[in-house]
Amino acid sequence: MIDVHTHVLPFVDDGSRSVESSLLMVKEAVAQGVTDMVLTPHLRGDYNASSKRLKSVYNDFCDVVKNAGIEIKLHLGQEIFIDKDFKKLFSTDKILTLNGSKFVLIEFDYVSDFDIGETVYELVNMGYVPIIAHFERYVYADSSVAEEVKSLGGFIQVNADSFFGKAKKVYYKKIKELFKDGLVDFVASDVHAFRENYLNKAYAFVLKKFGVSTADAVFTNNALKILNGQT
Ligand SMILES: [Fe+2]
Repeated sequence: MIDVHTHVLPFVDDGSRSVESSLLMVKEAVAQGVTDMVLTPHLRGDYNASSKRLKSVYNDFCDVVKNAGIEIKLHLGQEIFIDKDFKKLFSTDKILTLNGSKFVLIEFDYVSDFDIGETVYELVNMGYVPIIAHFERYVYADSSVAEEVKSLGGFIQVNADSFFGKAKKVYYKKIKELFKDGLVDFVASDVHAFRENYLNKAYAFVLKKFGVSTADAVFTNNALKILNGQT
């Protein structure tokens, strides 16, 4: 599997406060069948490490993982919070795309309404390919918004942990609709040190409910485009 949304890189956001906890997360991912992981620290509020710093921490962490003999490929990206000034931000070199491709992982406020379709339209015009992080979390966005995103050239990501647990029932209801309409492009862990990695469990669930070709597409094959730099 290829995990396109993770907070494993240490020191740069709320994902991990030590190299040790980052290594534990990587080992757990490998145990679950992850071969490639995109590291996507937040660019949001106080989490605003520069691209230069992220690249330096990334290079150091890749060395640590290699020296520990862990078989996984790590790629760098960012999860970028969208506010009203996003066009200005995306005109600079302050942001990181996923693995240097045109794909950008973007997130929105969960409750206060933001025009997701308009954002995708603007970013596509600027030459980016936006992926909407954990689409199920935005209370104001239903399947019709996901359809709009995709018709404009964007993609939809949902979180592996949103399939499970009583508190997440409302998320799963939305995810089920998205799968029925063929709107899900990626399932990712969005793993933090404080959050269990549900990727393998979610794979088994999607396999059972929606079939092997859907499961392989959303957990592995669609993400090859990001790793290969295709759009
Ligand atoms: Fe995230």
